Amino acid sequence: MKTYLVTGGAGFIGSNFIRYLFEKYGDSIRILNVDSLTYAGNLENLKEVSARENYRFFKADIRDKKAIAEIFSEYDVDTVVNFAAESHVDRSIENPEIFVETNVLGTLVMLNCARGAWEGKDGSYPEGKLFLHVSTDEVYGSLENPEDYFYETTPYDPHSPYSASKASSDFLVKAYVDTYHFPACITNCSNNYGPYQFPEKLIPLMINNALTGKSLPVYGDGKNVRDWLYVEDHAKGIDAVIQGGRHGEKYNIGGHNEKQNIEIIHIILDTLRELLPDSDPRKQNVSEDLITYVKDRKGHDRRYAIAPDKIHRELGWEPETDFEAGIRKTIRWYLDHEEWMANVINGDYMKYYEKMYNNR
Ligand code: NAD
Ligand code: TYD
Repeated sequence: MKTYLVTGGAGFIGSNFIRYLFEKYGDSIRILNVDSLTYAGNLENLKEVSARENYRFFKADIRDKKAIAEIFSEYDVDTVVNFAAESHVDRSIENPEIFVETNVLGTLVMLNCARGAWEGKDGSYPEGKLFLHVSTDEVYGSLENPEDYFYETTPYDPHSPYSASKASSDFLVKAYVDTYHFPACITNCSNNYGPYQFPEKLIPLMINNALTGKSLPVYGDGKNVRDWLYVEDHAKGIDAVIQGGRHGEKYNIGGHNEKQNIEIIHIILDTLRELLPDSDPRKQNVSEDLITYVKDRKGHDRRYAIAPDKIHRELGWEPETDFEAGIRKTIRWYLDHEEWMANVINGDYMKYYEKMYNNR
């Protein structure tokens, strides 16, 4: 039975990944989910799988060497999938320290514990071990020329404290590969969207605000471009790299789906109007009049765009859900999960919201 140690599995992408693995592999795998449950971690995201015998949750911090080492000594872990991170750029601009602590030092602890558990006396590693580090396209910086794309060979040029911390963690993983022949791969993925995303990120924030008649805060001129990928396609890409990725390699994962932020907001409004029945009182709130241009994000990257050629060529992966279908599924999910949103938007979220957006 293959054992996966997934960090950050109670977050947005991690929980979607765990659900995907169980759907695909059923009882033939075991998943250990290690998550410290920060504001972004939510066990409700895993309700469907939590009773499975081949699933175990550990409330632990990836910076906690003792707790992580104990899990490695108790279980024969085959694959680590390292999602755990502070993930929101705006928060990193307000408070960079925790980004370095979790994203850099936490990853270092994970690397050390995996190496400690796996490396033989002669410096070799048993067959089948893999540390997959989940990273972002933001490490490559910002594209100015519309014909340019991020390739695995594009030099790193991070601008935000978030992307700088992810870049640092990627370099640590690379250093372990180069120094210790540590069996690792890195995936650099573009912006994800889908069910269970925390409403600090663009798409769920705009859905929630439109439904409740709150203003839709557009940073700057709204023309910054992101390359959006449906979260299940990201899960499939990670699975493909675990199954067939070459050790020591990086793989870019992206949706071939570049859109300006303002386009995304118009699509959300149109889709909400289409999906909401006239009898639903929330429909009256949905209006272009809510769009409000606010002060730009500091150091705001203009455009991200991934060239996923390598993962397609080597592993046959490509995005399966186009944006029209993906955004409909996502909005349908948020419409059907009002209670999830109500539980997430607790006092802490409102405090964050007021701090970030009042008088912006
Ligand atoms: P998220 O913020 O929704 O979830 C992060 C999870 O990590 C939460 O469950 C949180 O409780 C946990 N966590 C945070 N600090 C921890 C710590 N010190 N110890 C243990 N657990 C901790 O993030 P996400 O959007 O699901 O992103 C997951 C990963 O994917 C991150 O590494 C992120 O950099 C990367 N990524 C995200 C995107 C995106 O669009 N969201 C795109 C590319 C890559
Ligand atoms: P976000 O979802 O935070 O992802 P990232 O910054 O990691 O790409 O933001 C996506 C884009 O949307 C980014 O250009 C910033 C912009 N944005 C807004 O215009 N308004 C908002 O309220 C938020 C959260 C983001």
